[in-house]
Parts: sequence; structure tokens; C-alpha cells
Amino acid sequence: MKKIGVGLLGCGVVGEAVYRGLAENAKAISARCGFQFDVKKIAVNNISKKRVGVSGGLLTKKYMEVVQAPGVDIVVELMGGEEDAFTAVTTALKLKKHVVTANKLLLAKRGEEIFDLAQKAGVKIGFEASVAGAVPVIRTIKEAIASGKIKSVFGIINGTSNFILSSMMERQTTFADALEEAQNLGYAEADPTFDVAGIDAAHKLTILANLAFGTPVKLKDVHIEGIGLLTPDDFIFARQFGRVIKLLATAKNDDGKLDIRVHPAMVPANMPIARIDGVTNAVEVDVSDAGRLMLIGPGAGGDATASAVIADLVDIARDMAHCSSARVSPTGFLPHSRKRLPLKNIDSIKGGYYLRFTVDDKPGVLAKMAGILGDNGISIDSVIQKGRTGGIVPLVILTHEAVEKSVKKAINKIDRLSTSQARTMLIRLEDGL
Ligand code: NDP
Ligand code: HSE
Repeated sequence: MKKIGVGLLGCGVVGEAVYRGLAENAKAISARCGFQFDVKKIAVNNISKKRVGVSGGLLTKKYMEVVQAPGVDIVVELMGGEEDAFTAVTTALKLKKHVVTANKLLLAKRGEEIFDLAQKAGVKIGFEASVAGAVPVIRTIKEAIASGKIKSVFGIINGTSNFILSSMMERQTTFADALEEAQNLGYAEADPTFDVAGIDAAHKLTILANLAFGTPVKLKDVHIEGIGLLTPDDFIFARQFGRVIKLLATAKNDDGKLDIRVHPAMVPANMPIARIDGVTNAVEVDVSDAGRLMLIGPGAGGDATASAVIADLVDIARDMAHCSSARVSPTGFLPHSRKRLPLKNIDSIKGGYYLRFTVDDKPGVLAKMAGILGDNGISIDSVIQKGRTGGIVPLVILTHEAVEKSVKKAINKIDRLSTSQARTMLIRLEDGL
């Protein structure tokens, strides 16, 4: 059996699962591509850490030793972070070695340089594992959709935050307990703020939008809000309105403008996306000729992510066998046909809104607020006011479709009233793109 040398950078949650997966599934893998993958060296930070089934002789602390090792044909970057990962990946590409990475932060921040380098070097960069874990969304957008124009990509692309939201909604778990559980299961980033603040989903969305619309996208182009400000009350009210709260990632080509954002949204409980729970991810792609495609599956965790990493290795092996590594460009578009789309300002979007005000429980408060909303062209769909306690109460309003700028202007004015006791919570309603 022909062998391909692999250098593993990182042997943590994903790296260890890749190592194990290559050994346990060697037969099935070679039946698909005619090669065996031989892990030659592994870079880690701490050589003394216990790693089940991994031979200590393969470990080194110097990642460059792995990248430069003569027998390493493919470098698999699973260290995470930016600087070391960038140095490792670009050095490998310059040495004309193929690269596989699961590092969405790296691709979101430095993807353009890396893709350009891979293209010039005529080698492959596989990054299926960087978005939605085991779900083959990169290959679908990059290769399977080839004739139609992609109108939008939307979905749930952070397993940790979806796990937290589902646990809070279904099991009334606290935020902190749900996050700890997700960390123990290997779903969270090294710094879990990336998950809960919406940054990890934004990293992934820049990658998807880049492939979907043939446009370079910068991280700062994405409007980002996380799930950290949601309170148990929001989940209770959502249920009363027949909705659930999801952290949605949306990228839409809106008449030539890119509408790109990550934020919590309230979706009707009977919408397919509402039923995506736990670590599961779902991505819906709306294509001009094909219609709506939805891909669903495990979005994080060692084994799920390793399956996508190994799929990239098999893909590279197949291309190596036919000397056709540059067959598909890294973004799926020819470099000269990519162009930057102007951005749509979030203030100009239109939609329904959930507004949770915190107000004095006094006569006339609701009437005053309704007046301010009306003055800004916002009409009310429904209102829930908690029982009369004479103290401070949440007062929730769902609006009909309104312009975001007007909604923010009205909230600003209401929050300055002497009867308002905390900043108003705004959650966008999403009834389908
Ligand atoms: P871990 O923190 O579990 O593993 C990171 C590994 O890299 C560890 O083995 C660590 O060594 C090693 N490492 C880190 N920095 C260096 C360095 N400078 N030199 C040598 N070794 C280094 O992370 P994960 O496995 O969870 O994630 C890896 C990558 O995959 C990240 O980019 C992450 O975003 C991405 N990813 C993760 C998913 C998941 O579900 N966990 C899913 C999809 C993508 P040591 O073990 O000694 O600490
Ligand atoms: N922390 C990420 C998540 C890992 O929870 O989705 C998968 O990319």
C-alpha cells in the first residue's frame, strides 16, 4: 500500500481524534483513495501530557520540525490561534506541502494571504473542518454548487452556543453550567468567549460568505452580537410567543450588497432551524437554480471534526494520485472573477423585533412607550406585561416589520425616560430569509 506522510500540529481534542481515526479507519480510508496515511511527527506544547494511544516517540515541542520534516507530505494544523498557525501553514505552503486546517480564526483573519500562497504554490489547502464540524458545507458550497447564484447562506454554526441555548431553553440549565458541560465535551474554543460572543460563528461566516459570493470578506465586515446578555426571562417570553432563541449567522447578497451578521434571533418554534438542538449545526443555502439546500449534523467535538479533517486528507490523496492538486481554486472561484461586495448597513435592515423593557410598574408607562414607538413608525404586534407588583417589571413588545434604525432611535428615547430602569433588550425576529 502506498503511504503519504502526515505531520500533525496539535494533539488536543481534534488532533488526537484525527490520529485515532487514521489508525482505526485505515482500511476504509485506503479503500477510498488507495493510500495509507502515516503520521510521522506530532507537535504539542506539553510532551509529558498523557495522550491515549499516541506514541511518545512522535512528539516534539517544535512545530517547525514537523513542518520541515522531509517525510511529511501533508501538514495538518490543529493547534489553533493565529501567529504560530500562520507561520506553520505558510511555511508548509512555501515548501509546496499540502495543508489541512480546522482553524477558522486563522482563515477569517489571514485567509486571503493563505489562499493566494496555496494557489501560487500549486498545492491544496483543505479546510472542511473549519466550519460546521462533520457537515460537508465547504465542499458543498465550493464544488457541488457550480451553476446557480447563491442568494443567501444562513444557519447555526457554533455548536457551543447552540448547546447552551438548548440547555437553557429545554432543561432550564444556567448559562455557566451549560458552558462548563460544553467545555467538558470538547466543543468550546480554548477561549470560550469566542463561542458565546458570536466571534467563532463570525469567523466561520466570513469563510462561508467568501466561498458563496466570490467576495473577499473581512471579519470587521460582520455585525456580531453574542448570547451573553440573554436572561432566563427572554426564554420564557420566547416560549409564550411560540418562538425559540437561536444564535443565527446570516450572509445575504441583497441587491448587490452584502448583509452579513451574527446575532441571537427569535424564530418560530415550527421552523426547521428551531429544532436544531445541542451541538448540532445547520446551514441553509439558497441557490438561484437549485432552491434551498439544508445541511445538518454534528458541529463540534473531536470525532466529528476529525471526520472532516480526514475527508480533506483523502481528497488531497486522490488529487495527488492524478497530479491535479490545483484543480479547484481554494475559494472555488477563479481569482480574477472575485470582487468585493459593498456592505449593507445593519441600521437599514427591516424586520420584526422583540423588545424587553425594564420599567416602573405604574399607570401610563405603556401608553408613553407606545407613543414613542408610534412616532418612529413602529407598530406593535403584541405586548406582555408582567403582573402588577408596584415595583420594576419586564414589559415585552413584539413589533411588526420596522426599520432597525428607527427601532434603535425609539429604544434610545424610551431608555432615557425616568420610568425605564435598565437598558432595553432587542432580539430580532427571524421568520425565514
Ligand atoms: P486543543 O486546545 O484541544 O488542542 C490544541 C493542540 O495544539 C494541543 O495538543 C496543544 O498542545 C497544541 N498546541 C497549541 N499551540 C501549540 C504550539 N505553539 N506548538 C505546538 N503545539 C501547540 O484544541 P482543539 O483540538 O479543540 O482545536 C484545534 C483547532 O481546531 C482550533 O483551531 C479549533 O478552533 C479548531 N476546531 C475545533 C473543534 C472542536 O470541536 N474542538 C471543531 C472545529 C474546529 P498540548 O496538548 O500540549 O496543550
Ligand atoms: N467551538 C466551536 C463550536 C468548535 O462550538 O462550534 C467547532 O468549530
